[in-house]
Parts: sequence; C-alpha cells; structure tokens
Amino acid sequence: MNTFANIIPAPTKLEYTSESLKLENISTFYTAEPFTGFAPAVQELFKSFSFDITSTAPDSAALAIVHSAMPEEAFSIEISPDKAVIAAGSQAGVFYALECLRQMLFTATIASPKGAVLTCGKLEDAPRFTFRSFHLDSARHFQNIDVIKRMLRMMASCRLNTFHWHLVDSQGWRLQLKTTAGLENRYTKTPGYYTADDIKEVVEFAAKHHISVIPEIDFPGHSRGTLNYFPQYACCNAAENPGEICLGNPASKEFVKNILAEVMELFPQSKYIHIGGDEANTANWEKCPLCRKAMQENSCKDMRELENIFMRDIAQFVIDNNRHPIIWGTCSGQTYQPETTIQAWLDIREPLRVAPNGNKVIYSVHTSLYFDYPQNLSEPWETWMFELSERGVYMTDPYIIWADKVKDCIIGTEACLWTETVPQWRIIPKILPRLHAYSECAWSDPAKKDYQDFHRRKELLEAAGYMDHLINRKA
Ligand code: ACM
Ligand code: ZN
Repeated sequence: MNTFANIIPAPTKLEYTSESLKLENISTFYTAEPFTGFAPAVQELFKSFSFDITSTAPDSAALAIVHSAMPEEAFSIEISPDKAVIAAGSQAGVFYALECLRQMLFTATIASPKGAVLTCGKLEDAPRFTFRSFHLDSARHFQNIDVIKRMLRMMASCRLNTFHWHLVDSQGWRLQLKTTAGLENRYTKTPGYYTADDIKEVVEFAAKHHISVIPEIDFPGHSRGTLNYFPQYACCNAAENPGEICLGNPASKEFVKNILAEVMELFPQSKYIHIGGDEANTANWEKCPLCRKAMQENSCKDMRELENIFMRDIAQFVIDNNRHPIIWGTCSGQTYQPETTIQAWLDIREPLRVAPNGNKVIYSVHTSLYFDYPQNLSEPWETWMFELSERGVYMTDPYIIWADKVKDCIIGTEACLWTETVPQWRIIPKILPRLHAYSECAWSDPAKKDYQDFHRRKELLEAAGYMDHLINRKA
C-alpha cells in the first residue's frame, strides 16, 4: 500500500520512494513552538490506531512538527525510514497536515496495525482557493448542534475553512434575538432555534477546526414568516401573505439594522456577514404607496433600483461595523460597494458581470454545487432541481469559461445544502460522498483533475474505515 497515493483532497506536489517507515517505530514526537498545543491531538491520533506515542526532545523524536515559513494553510509531510517531519507556517497548516496523516494511517493499517508502514517520500500542499465554504440551511428544516458539529468535522477533514449558516427564511427563524422576540417559535416544519449559547458553542467548535462561521440574514425577500409575525414591516397594502420587507418604510430598514447589529454581536469573529438579497418579488412594492413614494424621491426607474438602494444601505451598515457584506447575485444588473462580495449561484456568467465593479465573487452555481439536488432520482426532489452526481460535482470548476477574466475576482467556492426537501436525518447522506468530490474543486490543482483516480482513492479510504470514522467521530 502506497500511503501517499490515497489522499483527498489530492496534494499539490508528491514524490515517493520504495522505502518505508514502520508505524511501531513512531513512539516519540516533538512539537516545536508555536505548535506545542497540538501534542494532545498527536497522541489522540496515534492512540486511535492503537499506537502509544510520547513527547520527547527534538533530537530523539521519530515524529517532529516544526515551523517553517510557508503561506497560510500550507504544509509538508516528509517521511524517511527513521523519521517523519511535518512542517507548516500556521496552526491551520499543522491541523491539515494531521488530518492528512490520519488518512495515511487509515490506509496503512487497512489490514492491521501490526507491521503497518508509511511510504517514504515528501508531500507539499497548499490550497488553490483561500475561501472554501459549505452552506447549510437551518431554516427550512432545523438541525441540532450535534448534527452541525458532525458536519463541521467532515468539512475540516476536507480542508474546508468556512461555514455559511443560513439561519432564517420564510419557513423558520432560528435565532433567538431581542429584536425578533417570539419569532423563533414560529416555523412551518420542524421546531427549534439557536440560543446565544448555542451559537457560541458552534462558533468555538468551528474555530477549533479552523472554520469561520458566516451568519446569513436574508432580506428583503424570503421573509414571509417574519412579516406574518411583524406585519408592520410589510408593505401597507400587501397581499395577505407578504414575502418582502417594505422598502419605503424607514421603520422596516431600522428593523433590519437592529437585527444585524445583534447578529454581529453574536458572531464577533465573523469577517463576513451575509445579508441575503435573494429572489425578492417586486409585486407588493409596486402596489405600496410608501415604496412608490421612495421610488420617486430617489429617482429610480423601477423597483429593482429601489431594492438596490435598500441593499446598498444595509451593506453600508455592515461595512461601517467593520465587516464585509455578502449578497446573493441576482444577475439583475444591481451594483454594490467594492467591499461587498457577490455569491454567484444562478448563472456561470455572474462573475463576468460583477468583476468590472471591483466586487469579489464566491462561486456556488446551483447546477454543480447545490447538494439538495438529488444524487439520483430515488431521493426527494422538486421541479427546480437538477440531478447532481458525485462526478458532476467533481468536474465543476469556477474558471469553467473566461478564466482570464474571472480569476482575479473569484475568491473561492461554496457548496450549498438547502433543506426544503432535506430533514435532519438526510443531512449526512446528502453531504457524503459529494463533499470529498467538492473538496478537490476547492483545494486541489485543477490541472491534475482525474475522476477515476479520485474514485479509486475514495473507495480505498472507505474500505479502510475512514468514512465510518467521519460519521462516528466524537472530537
Ligand atoms: C438561491 O438559491 N435562491 C440563492
Ligand atoms: Zn412598501
């Protein structure tokens, strides 16, 4: 077994020899500053394969974790017949190196830990994109913290570093806030909401796994449940079941800003705040005297222009609070401040459209990165969905066309799991196996893409028990 040849996501650079290092000979380790905090994780890792490893001085260590000047998240693993050396320039780099070593230990011990060896050679790795994200919709169906932690662990093992948390939508408001008191108990399908303590627990757990959390509050559309509970923020003559916040009522904008102020307090570390902007219907705005007045006062040619003014104002509020807003791209010609990142989900041409305005782009186009779409037609699906296989995810690429024009504006990728058709128990089957395919789009060199080889590596890791470990892992 070549233990360097079965790693997901695929490494950038790999060389190996026919020599090997016996695992039973790795009985001592050394962690250099600033990585001494990894000592318990190293012991735990080897213990899970029935090997005891104790801390020792640098000269006598069979496994050394050392600091080396490298880009953020990069790492190397060098194995020689008598020693293994992990080098990185950051905590995230060591974390990823240990996750990589874990996969090597799984394949090394596939038959038995007895006599198991690691292949000698050197692996050097660094991510393709700095922004590697996964999105979960906790509004349509609620998930408990345990399931979210399980998902975060899987993300970390795939070296994804961002969790976009879709916390509110028409069918459920999953945040307990002062501004929206009582709304958290309103939902259409499953009950449940997150308290400030829950949020803290998730954010801290994610940080331990080198994942930052981006909360999303989606306005002005997707707000049916919110406006049923707070009708004063809907258009005054709106239909019985309004789905959009009134753009012309100053109190509505104040309401949104008060919510965002509380959200920023709950997520103090989040560089990005997602402010939605998704799929608003203009019909009620057209009929609303306040919206029509605002349209005239602002010399807007239509309601989309007024919506743009509303979203720019909300974006500015986020920018003034030293965060970066993210907005769903609508392909509608709306423009935003350069500090705003656009999430391209509808059309592969969205990056081309927004790049000239100086905005950065997250690539998450639905046809290849929406994990609610069925892997085959035995899964529940809705009319708007396409079939999306593991291979379909694997073959996607943000530079699919116009690479030269878009590559400076795309900061990374995101796979999205919407949950209209996904109750909690279906979350993990939806994520696996496509998360591993996606990880190679986010991390690995696209020039080396090879689906057959990916599939072979994945099957081998499955046979070695690695996927079971991901599902059952506790820490
Ligand atoms: C979306 O899928 N409507 C962002
Ligand atoms: Zn209105």
